[in-house]
Formats: sequence, C-alpha cells, structure tokens
Amino acid sequence: MRAATRRLTWLGLALALMLPGVALAQAHGGAGGAQTNDAARLEDGMRLYRADGVDCEWCHGWHGLGRGHDFEYADVQQAGGPALSTSLLDRAAMIELISCGRIVGERLMVMPQYRGDAWTAGLPCWGKTFADIPIQERPVHGKRQMNAREIEAVVDYILAVYRGKRMTLEWCLKYFPASRGICETL
Ligand code: HEC
Repeated sequence: MRAATRRLTWLGLALALMLPGVALAQAHGGAGGAQTNDAARLEDGMRLYRADGVDCEWCHGWHGLGRGHDFEYADVQQAGGPALSTSLLDRAAMIELISCGRIVGERLMVMPQYRGDAWTAGLPCWGKTFADIPIQERPVHGKRQMNAREIEAVVDYILAVYRGKRMTLEWCLKYFPASRGICETL
C-alpha cells in the first residue's frame, strides 16, 4: 500500500514537471513548434544570464567555469562564484537556490536572491522564512529580480549549455554574436 502511494506521488511529480513544458509547446503551435520554442527559451535564458543587473556571468563566467573578484558585492566581502559545469544540483535545487540566494561563510560571498517574494510564507526557502534566520544570513538581492518563468529559463540554459559539459562553439557564437574572436579560446 505504502509503496503504491509512493509510486503515485512520483508519478504526480513527474507529471507536474512535464506539464508546463507541454503547455508551453502547445501555446506555440503544437508539436511542430516545440523545438523552436525550446531553442528560443534557452536563448531567453542565455540573455538573462548575461543581462545587466542579473549578472550571473559576472560571478560564474560566460563559459560557466566560475570567476573570482576582489570587489565587494553590496555588503558582502567578495564577488565571484563556483563553476556551473561541475554543479551537482538538479533542476529543482537550482531553481530554489537562484530564487532564494545563499550567504557563504560570514558574508564572505553571496549567491544573490532573485525572487523578491522568497523567504516569505508564500515562497519559503528550504522550509524557512526570514523570520527563522539571523539577519546576517539573509542574502543580498540581485539588482534585477526575476519571475518564476525567467528563473526556469536560466536554469534550463545552464543545464543545456554548462552543467556536465563545456560551452560549445555554436552556443559561444550565440553568446557573442559580435565578437567571434572570444570563441576561439574555447
Ligand atoms: C555576486 C556573485 C554571484 C552572482 C551575481 C550569481 N551567483 Fe550564483 N553563486 C554564487 C556563489 C558564491 C555560489 C556558491 C553558493 C554556495 O556555496 O552555496 C553560487 C552558486 C550558484 C549555483 C550552484 C552551483 C553549485 O555549486 O552547484 C548556481 C546554479 C548558480 N549560482 C546560478 C546563478 C545564476 C543563474 C545567477 C544569475 C541569475 C547567479 N548564480 C548569480 C555567486 C553568484
């Protein structure tokens, strides 16, 4: 009985994960449109990744291999972030981390939070709200916040282009349409 319930829960979860994709494909003209739509969504994710104020690129690198800076980021000592190519997080965990952000060490570094409504009763982070954590553990906000769909597009871009792989020449040329030279360093 229990195993059956668990199987049903997993089935429900799988369906919940699949449905938005299906709905999106249909909104763009059914099965034929699905592939273009996917590619267009990934490119939307790419544009957000490098957009001013979102600035994922500034800390994780255009190639997703990570970057370090001595600059401060808001009241945090350093700006910079780990490689995304070696990330072990799955899609859901990435969405939560980008929505919620995270302070590393004693405000040594920050992964900014990109959902203004995160850490509230409506969108708790790892089961917590701001009321549950000390002020010094509250992440800095990204300068440009995103909605759920935008965060999903960025995550799908990371999964398609960086995680577990190297950025391809094809993606690099999309990323830098005006300066091909950079892509020769790949
Ligand atoms: C100010 C620098 C900074 C910016 C800007 C930034 N990050 Fe991060 N990011 C970090 C740091 C630091 C960590 C490590 C957090 C930790 O150790 O838990 C991190 C972790 C991550 C991880 C998990 C990597 C792993 O180790 O598995 C992902 C995914 C990620 N960031 C995506 C993004 C995306 C997408 C954006 C833009 C929307 C972004 N980050 C913007 C600094 C940054």
